[in-house]
Formats: sequence, structure tokens, C-alpha cells
Amino acid sequence: MAAPLLTIVLAAGKGTRMRSATPKVLHAVAGRSMLGHVLDRGRTLAPQRQAVVVGPDMAMVAAEAQAAGDEVETFIQPDQRGTADAVLAAAPALKAHRGDVLVLFADTPLLRTETLERMREVLEAGAGVAVLGFEAVDPTGYGRLLTDGAGAVVAVREHADANEEERRVRLCNAGVMAFRVPDLLGLLGRIGSDNAKGELYLTDAVGLARGDGHIVRTVVCCEEEVLGVNSRDQLAVAEGVWQQRRRLEAMRDGATLIAPETVWFSYDTVIGRDVTIEPNVFIGPGVVIEDRVTIHANSHIVGRQGKYREGLRIREGASVGPFARLRPGADIGREVHIGNFVEVKNAVIEAGAKANHLAYIGDGRVGAGANIGAGTIFCNYDGFDKHQTEIGAGAFIGSNSSLVAPVKIGDGAYVASGSVITKNVPPDALALSRTPQEVREGWAAKYRARRKRKS
Ligand code: UD1
Ligand code: CA
Repeated sequence: MAAPLLTIVLAAGKGTRMRSATPKVLHAVAGRSMLGHVLDRGRTLAPQRQAVVVGPDMAMVAAEAQAAGDEVETFIQPDQRGTADAVLAAAPALKAHRGDVLVLFADTPLLRTETLERMREVLEAGAGVAVLGFEAVDPTGYGRLLTDGAGAVVAVREHADANEEERRVRLCNAGVMAFRVPDLLGLLGRIGSDNAKGELYLTDAVGLARGDGHIVRTVVCCEEEVLGVNSRDQLAVAEGVWQQRRRLEAMRDGATLIAPETVWFSYDTVIGRDVTIEPNVFIGPGVVIEDRVTIHANSHIVGRQGKYREGLRIREGASVGPFARLRPGADIGREVHIGNFVEVKNAVIEAGAKANHLAYIGDGRVGAGANIGAGTIFCNYDGFDKHQTEIGAGAFIGSNSSLVAPVKIGDGAYVASGSVITKNVPPDALALSRTPQEVREGWAAKYRARRKRKS
């Protein structure tokens, strides 16, 4: 049995290099905040509690943390006096806890569960402190893991405090640390600020723990996994790494991606088997794609956006795109065809229905097997409210029809092309609302003859 676990996520840094009105850790990777990713990673270890340390004016960060789960509790660090000071801001959680403590940085969204589990195993095996290290291609700016002759870590030296020789060390501190020392609060309380930045470095815990006779062990992972995001270009790098992992996972799970590098997923995308996704497809949050679905090229599919939280499902065997746009609340039924330049929002499209070209289907229902002609518009909005359009099973909506909601078209009814439908249509009826056609025999020939004579 693993010891009970407390995770402490540090998120009080200002993140000035993002140049943003939004706190750094709320910037998103794959549609979810970096803080959300880190808390989710922490949760995979089944901690008793997750403490999140935020700055004094970070109500949004605290709210995001709280929303992540019931085990999350936030603490305020009044002044940013360093990473050890940040951990001490969560002292009440530490005091109440008996067991292991894992410290994570909220700006490191790509960590893997396996790596964190390895850190816990090291504690299990007798270490008092575990440090996550990596070989940096360019170690500038990172703390260096200084080892003794036997390869054991004796101290972490921050870049600013390191001498020439220490700076040549490429094994760096990733920022993740795990503790199983009986009096962690006491240990942290002994950390001073006599260093280049005048900060309280959490990393000083390594030297102190060794001095107390504890074993300090290193777990090494790859650099990509511990990428810390300080700027927007690093945010884009993190996004790229995340997407590449997810694409591989999708393909391993039985989806075909013709050009994987052009398909974008979200943190919560669910994909079934034998799904084919053509090039240039963007999938935002809240999307479930069932088995045997085909998403044709250049489609944009988002299940949750802003105030629209409904989510979106594409059921078995459906075909979407090319150039389709699916929005929150779209429920695309089995074997449905949604074609080019069709937008669906908050509407249920029942099994086998077709909308193959150029349509807006917003707020309503399309019955099973119905056919929506090119240019059909659900006129759902009157400038104040949204209204529903109901189309019965097997109905046929002729091209270029405007259905002015609220309106109902009965099962099996026909709507003639070019109609503007403002009243309900009974089942199996024909509704037709357009100017009757006038034909003048021979008119064109006479007209041309007249014009020719004049010139
Ligand atoms: C830190 C490590 C360094 C490591 C690097 C890896 C220390 C002293 N240094 O340096 O060894 O190589 O990460 O990326 O730990 N934070 C607070 N309150 C504070 C200061 C920081 O909450 O007072 C939070 C930040 O929001 C961030 C994390 O702690 O999430 C790390 O702080 P940051 O200033 O980025 O540390 P680095 O200088 O990058
Ligand atoms: Ca950092």
C-alpha cells in the first residue's frame, strides 16, 4: 500500500513573460488550462488532497483550481518569495497530513503519470526526498543537480548561483520534488535566502535533507515531459508535444489519420474505432466520436465554447464534412450525412438524415431519414430569443428554404424549394410559399431581335 499523498501545486508566479491579462497557468493547452492539466495529472495518483498555491490577486486561478475537483484546496502566498516560501503557504495542509508530499509546478503541463509514480516508488524504497531530473539540451536557467562520486545528488544549484564548472552540468532540476521526511515543515523552515535572487529556494531542501541523514534520489525523465511554459512560444511548443502524443494514441486505438500532423484534438476528445479523420480537422472540447465515423477534410468541431457547454456527439457510421462546422449541442445520429458548408448547433439529427450541402441547422430536431436540401436555413433567432424548428421523420425540405422558428414540419411532409415557412406543416402535406412562376412563350427570342435591330 502506498502512503497517503498530498500534492502541492505552485501557481503563484506572475508569469510576466506571457504578456497577458490572463494569469499564466490559465493559458490553455489542448483546450484546458495548464493548471487543469497538472491537477488532473496529480489526481491520477489518488491523492487525499491537492493544495494549490496562488498569488493574492488570483481569484480566477483559485476558481479554476476549485473547479478541478473536491479534493482541491487553495492557499494564498502573499509575496512571491520563492518556491520554498510557496510550499510553506500550504502549511495548514502539510500540518494536517501524514504521508508523502509531491510538489508540482502549474506551468509544466506535459508530465506523465508513470514518471510521478516512479518518484513515489523511490520514496517507497527508502528515500526521504526524490528529485525529478532531466538532461537539458541547453541547461541555461535551470537548477543543476550536483552529484557526488557515486552519482548521488548532494545539492541543487540554481543557475544564478552556479560557478563555471557547475554550469557545465547538464543534469537539471525539473521542478518536481517528492518528500517523505517526518518533519517537512521544520526542514523547509530552515531554508534561507542567502543566494543570488534573495529567494527561498525549495531546492535547498536537498542539501538540508542529506545533512539530516536522509537519502536523496533522482528520477530522470525526458526533457519534453518537463517543458516549463514561461512564454507564448513555449506554450505553442507544449501544445505541439501534447497533440503529437494524442495523435499517436488515437492511431494506436484504431483511428486512421491520413495526415496526423494536421489534426487537432482536445484534452477530452473521445474517439471510437475505425474512425477516419482526413487532413486539417480541428476538434475542440466536449466532442465524442463513435465507431466508424468519417470526418472529411477541413471540418471544425467544437462541443463546448464560452457559454455553450452542451457537448457534441457524432454517432456510429456518420459522415461529416468536408468543410462542416459542428457546434455545441449538435447530436449527429447514426449514419447521418453532414456535408460541405453545413453548420449544426444545438440540434438533434436523427439516424440516416442528410444535409449534404450549404445549410444552417440551429436549435431543433431533424427526424430520422429526413432530407435537408442545399441552402436550407433554420431562422432560429429573432434578435432577442432563440426558437425551435422540428422536422419530422422522412420529411423533405426543398433547396433554399427558410424555416422561420418556432415551426414544425410533420413526418413525411414536403417543403417546396425556395419556400419561406412560417406556419406548421402537417404530416405528408406539401407546403409551398413562393411567387407563382409566369412563362411568356417566345419572349426571349423577340427581345434579342429587338435589341439587335437597335445596334
Ligand atoms: C525552478 C527551480 C529550478 C528548476 C526550474 C525548472 C527553484 C528554486 N528552482 O526555477 O531548480 O530547474 O524551476 O523549471 O525551485 N512559484 C510560486 N511562488 C514563488 C515562486 C514561484 O508559486 O514565490 C511557482 C511559479 O508559479 C512556478 C513555480 O513555482 O509555477 C516555479 O517558479 P519559477 O520562478 O518559474 O522557478 P524557476 O526559476 O523556473
Ligand atoms: Ca519556470
